[in-house]
Amino acid sequence: MEISELRSVYLRFFAKRGHAVIASASLIPEDDPSVLFTSAGMHPLVPYLLGQPHPEGRRLTNVQKCIRTTDIEDVGDTTHLTFFEMLGNWSLGDYWKKEAITWSYEFLTSKKWLGFNPDKLSVTVFAGDDDSPQDKEAAKVWQSVGIPKERIYFLGKEDNWWIAGNSGPCGPCTEMFIEVDEIPKCGPDCRPGCNCGHFVEVWNDVFMMYNKNEDGTYTPLKQQSIDTGMGVERTAAMLQGVPSVFDTEAFVPILDYIRNLSPKEEFTETDERLARIIADHVRSAIMIMADDRQIGPSNVEQGYIVRRLLRKSIHSADRLGIEKGFMIGITDIMIEMFKDIYKEVERNRKFVIDNLEAEEEKFRQTLSKALRRFDKILNDTGTITGQDAFLLFTSFGLPLEMTRDLAEENGIVINMKEFTKQFEEHREISRTATQGKFKGGLADHSEEITRLHTATHLLQAALRKVLGDEVTQNGSNITNDRLRFDFTFSRKLTSEEVEQVERLVNDIISKDLPVEHYFMPYDEAIGKGALAFFKENYGEEVSVYQVGSFSMELCGGPHVEHTGVLGSFKIAKQEKIGAGVMRIKAVLESAS
Ligand code: SER
Repeated sequence: MEISELRSVYLRFFAKRGHAVIASASLIPEDDPSVLFTSAGMHPLVPYLLGQPHPEGRRLTNVQKCIRTTDIEDVGDTTHLTFFEMLGNWSLGDYWKKEAITWSYEFLTSKKWLGFNPDKLSVTVFAGDDDSPQDKEAAKVWQSVGIPKERIYFLGKEDNWWIAGNSGPCGPCTEMFIEVDEIPKCGPDCRPGCNCGHFVEVWNDVFMMYNKNEDGTYTPLKQQSIDTGMGVERTAAMLQGVPSVFDTEAFVPILDYIRNLSPKEEFTETDERLARIIADHVRSAIMIMADDRQIGPSNVEQGYIVRRLLRKSIHSADRLGIEKGFMIGITDIMIEMFKDIYKEVERNRKFVIDNLEAEEEKFRQTLSKALRRFDKILNDTGTITGQDAFLLFTSFGLPLEMTRDLAEENGIVINMKEFTKQFEEHREISRTATQGKFKGGLADHSEEITRLHTATHLLQAALRKVLGDEVTQNGSNITNDRLRFDFTFSRKLTSEEVEQVERLVNDIISKDLPVEHYFMPYDEAIGKGALAFFKENYGEEVSVYQVGSFSMELCGGPHVEHTGVLGSFKIAKQEKIGAGVMRIKAVLESAS
């Protein structure tokens, strides 16, 4: 079965069962600054899962464009992709487990629909823990439709619980796996979710029944809902009996095109993997850029992900001997592929092509300089040290992962400790320099300044919620008695907007939320929606401060431990300080 048919039979199956067919939402979440991309079909439907009535009713079905960067390192294997499409059916306080599971089983196994062999179907259900009991009900329904006990696996939260992000609607889920005979079991403990490739997950039915609060507790939802997700490319690969998603028609034309452009006669396994990475990454970057929000490569947020995807692709293409301009042809293949379903790809062709060309031009120059330096170091010294990797990173813009790949090919393992040490030292130097330069900067740890510093994060988050995502930090300065925050925005705030911002901040203060601090890789932080300022100073591991789902920023600190100590937040003054730049001064009136 072809992908276009899979999409249409799925929608038909659920339309016949009373579901309204709704369009895919944008890849860039409209009202949720806490995430960068729509990474699951449920994202755009969160308000309705929480109880708001949906204009199309209580039963919906759709094909949703998704971007997930969490699995980016796995791209090139048989199933992982950064852009994919997800089929979903939704019950908003309507049907529950019995119908959801019975329909999933019928759709997967009936000869009238997908016709998978029922003997090859295994399922997982939630094993239970202190937050929620074992899902005996789901297991019972699976047994009633004919899945024997030994093919029903009880697993914990890491496998059988779904939540998007840290808080919001969530609940236990049941996942469906098809066994692939060609890939042998990895051992006696081989089971769904073990990731050896023998069991391939095709569908996930989530039983949304709780809201996870910002303090980590769970409250039962007013209505119980069903959220299901079936990966289009994976399911198509299984239906077509091909070994990977890259062997479906979503990728074959792109990979053929890449192979043709390369002067290499034979592709090694590494070359094949590079070709898959190019195909996946360029496809994702094009889909993000072609979304009507028109996001091009940049150093912040979604644009940063586009840049990383493109740079990795350009580097991979370079290694296959593919010359400049290769991404234009991929765009045209994708326009052809998606012209009936995602018309925006064709509509935004010019924007996409212009950005692809500019990014490639810029990065090829840096890349060739960096590669020349890499070769020289290797020739002169016979190795690449952690210090060399650091130099290539800071002076030539060669991302660490690329240096690591190149070194590996030469049989060299980069000493990461050494790299990190260099990086830490560098950070210490910049920190000391900052201390001298800006009083009230990050190095000044007085209590007042710490409180105002946390208030600045809350202010930025609140401004973005009230005025929109175009608000980004332009500068910040803190003295003992006030914060000053400059941001991109073209006009003064109205008095209602000022009030709204103050209310949002004071609300978070009165909730006394913990201010959490983590270290994580830059990509992961950006992928989780962290705001980044002064991006060029950051290395691989970054320091992130988070306040519930309200605010998340890359920042060296320090911050208060709980928002409750901030007192009362008040905007004291606002002024326009340049074209498109506003300045706010704010104070904390009295600490509780
Ligand atoms: N939200 C669940 C998932 O993405 C089901 O759609 O797997």
